[in-house]
Amino acid sequence: MKVLLPLLVAIPVALAADKAKIDPSKIPLPVSRKVDFTRDVYPIFKESCLSCHGAEKQKGKYRMDTREGAFKVTDDYGPAILAGKSEGSAIIHMVSNLIDEMLMPPPSDKPGQSEKLTAEQIGILRAWIDRGAVWPDGPIQEVIKPVTFATDVRPVFAQACGSCHTGPSAKGGFAVDTAEAVLKGGSGYGKVITPGNPAKSSILTILAGKDEDLPEPEKHTLSARQVALVEKWILQGAK
Ligand code: HEC
Ligand code: HEC
Repeated sequence: MKVLLPLLVAIPVALAADKAKIDPSKIPLPVSRKVDFTRDVYPIFKESCLSCHGAEKQKGKYRMDTREGAFKVTDDYGPAILAGKSEGSAIIHMVSNLIDEMLMPPPSDKPGQSEKLTAEQIGILRAWIDRGAVWPDGPIQEVIKPVTFATDVRPVFAQACGSCHTGPSAKGGFAVDTAEAVLKGGSGYGKVITPGNPAKSSILTILAGKDEDLPEPEKHTLSARQVALVEKWILQGAK
């Protein structure tokens, strides 16, 4: 007992000391641009974390390929991801090397392995967490699956728009036959898509049924699911 007691006291004290040590001013700042889970965040997890925290291995009983796994409340370091508060999120403390012996990914002797995250990458994770840590619904393989014109978007446009927007006689000079034609836009509206930037892509306003200048708005309205697909395609660069 004489030996055990000091140990039992020492452990919680050490942990409390670790927590107290976290100085938010030492964390790289969040980036100011808009970040997207699929395009910006998950690729960082994939490159730097999933080899140890994915479907195959779960070091520290932690996995980041599912939402509930990633948002785990750890026993010793608090919530791994605290939506809305990056400076209170353990993954941010760890990637910033603010918890003793818990730098993630852990240092390695092998060159090229376990590279520390850059300030920019940490800034991206912070911006994502600060703005609510939005993790899209559905299995991750579906969420991160690339959306392409040929396999995903073309069939939707062909069915909904093809009767009026095909070939040289397409209404308003806007044809949906190829990605190039869609990106080129029409004779009146010009470009309606800015690759990588849904907010600057007026086609989404049209497809949501909110463009009041077009004839037959109902013919220009897609389901919310289809609009989301087109939006994802644009976000991923409209390839
Ligand atoms: C090379 C393997 C490896 C990589 C890559 C790695 N980790 Fe870890 N991680 C570990 C190990 C091992 C532990 C357990 C350490 C311990 O408890 O002392 C751990 C523990 C954690 C924990 C604590 C889990 C808990 O419940 O206590 C978090 C959170 C974490 N890692 C996040 C990350 C993040 C975020 C990344 C990517 C930026 C990452 N890790 C990359 C090996 C890795
Ligand atoms: C029933 C026929 C019809 C259908 C179906 C239709 N449109 Fe149209 N669309 C028109 C007409 C008519 C115009 C106006 C053309 C003009 O101003 O000369 C137009 C104009 C447009 C324009 C503006 C072109 C420009 O630059 O002037 C776009 C973009 C457009 N449509 C996209 C679509 C998309 C995307 C779909 C499928 C979701 C679709 N349309 C379905 C008839 C249709």
